[in-house]
Amino acid sequence: MKNIAVFCSGYGSNLQAIINSVKKKKIKARIALVLSDRVDAYALVRARKEKIPVLYADPVDFKDRVSYDRFLILNLKKKKIDYVVLAGFMRLMSPYFIRCFRGRVLNIHPSLLPSFKGTQGIKDALSYGVKITGVTVHFVDEKLDHGPIIAQGALEIKATDTQTTLAERIHRLEHKLYPQAVRLLIENKLKIQGRKVKQK
Ligand code: GAR
Repeated sequence: MKNIAVFCSGYGSNLQAIINSVKKKKIKARIALVLSDRVDAYALVRARKEKIPVLYADPVDFKDRVSYDRFLILNLKKKKIDYVVLAGFMRLMSPYFIRCFRGRVLNIHPSLLPSFKGTQGIKDALSYGVKITGVTVHFVDEKLDHGPIIAQGALEIKATDTQTTLAERIHRLEHKLYPQAVRLLIENKLKIQGRKVKQK
């Protein structure tokens, strides 16, 4: 059985969707660790409820990004983690981290990449005035919201949408798309060829 670590900074609704898929045995893997860089992340509460081991690591306790990531890698090795799933983890991983886990780190982003990278994907799409936005699941590489794309889902922005109503639909789409992509990863069905991801 493969071991997954899920990294979260906030509410953890994507973590919950993955937990639910594991419980239903749609994802045949163990969530062996939930890590957060924020002590108040509700994701930690969700993990504890499910008796999943948690780790809180505050970036201010480390001298730089690489020492933080070294600490993470140490803990991932201890738990024999095979795959890392970023679920609302609002930190850029160092090149050192990526080298250690190349092709084994996924991220979900609330826009149709390469549009609206960064921490405000939903708000930025809405204020730009695009009519279509969506969700992207991708492998993580050294650059922000950049790696090869595994899956995307699109939705229409309505004239009446606010950030709240749009976020609701985005999250619903995320909770469908992310567990499916994690499942493909666990079942070793994804093959990276340059910027493209093929399904085996
Ligand atoms: C999700 O919408 C995810 O796409 C986004 O943070 C949210 C976390 O929600 N991630 C990013 O913006 C990464 N750049 P959650 O904590 O409820 O899963």
